[in-house]
Amino acid sequence: MTAPYADLSRPPLSAAALSAALAPDGFWRRVDVVPSTGSTNADLAVRALGGEPEGALLLAEHQTGGRGRLDRRWVSPPRAGLTLSMLLRPAAVPTERRGWLPLLVGLALAETVTRIGKIPAYLKWPNDLLLGAERGKAAGVLAQVVGDAVVVGVGMNVTTRADELPTGEATSLVIAGSSCTDRGPLVRALARGVAGWYGALREAAGDARSCGLWAAYLRYCETIGQQLTVTRPGQDPLAGRAIGVDDGGRLLLRVGAGQHTMLASGDITHLRPVERTQRR
Ligand code: BTN
Repeated sequence: MTAPYADLSRPPLSAAALSAALAPDGFWRRVDVVPSTGSTNADLAVRALGGEPEGALLLAEHQTGGRGRLDRRWVSPPRAGLTLSMLLRPAAVPTERRGWLPLLVGLALAETVTRIGKIPAYLKWPNDLLLGAERGKAAGVLAQVVGDAVVVGVGMNVTTRADELPTGEATSLVIAGSSCTDRGPLVRALARGVAGWYGALREAAGDARSCGLWAAYLRYCETIGQQLTVTRPGQDPLAGRAIGVDDGGRLLLRVGAGQHTMLASGDITHLRPVERTQRR
């Protein structure tokens, strides 16, 4: 018999198993797994424009044109990680508070890795998932507004080896010592976490503080209190100290004596070494 896939350490995902596990929770209406596509975000954006309701989860075993934040790319070998997108229609969340949507997905990633992988996880604002003493990036989130929908994509390196990672600053769950590298349980935990926090944010009409999202996010976010630099396409770099996250999910930065600015996006570099203590 011919094996259905060549790399036994990287088994395929099962859409049927994921659908069966997630359906009873109520939010995830449709789960698809495709063997290969350009970008799951791009695919769900097309479906969103076609009027599809929220609650769609699209996973690809491989992407040929994966997109990252700030016009970067997301590259991963087939079945080595999670490349997935979620379709949300956040009518109950005022537009100015929707910045919390990608942050809540980052939080769900950190909670998933902590709970299922049993390793400490950290967030760099807005939603990079960092692992290990060197704080390598293991996952990122890309949110795109499509009319009144929001497509939120997640890329996470799971069994990716060091020689397969795109940069020396990246890492994966297997390299960081995760006790689980089975993508099925990771997807289920992530999807449930996102549905839970999204439901809470909707019920609170987008108020991240009153629904507990703000406090939960800050427990994982290492950016607050850090001296950092920010780079943004087409703009001068900015230096400052991060002092908080506001009701819209923006980073509050002190840039000089009595001078503050709010950031809605940007690429952050933490300038001082993080305290290597486990805070949870
Ligand atoms: C980042 O730059 O940190 C965000 C990376 C997001 C990548 C994911 S992979 C699945 C989804 N489809 C894409 O094209 N991008 C996102």
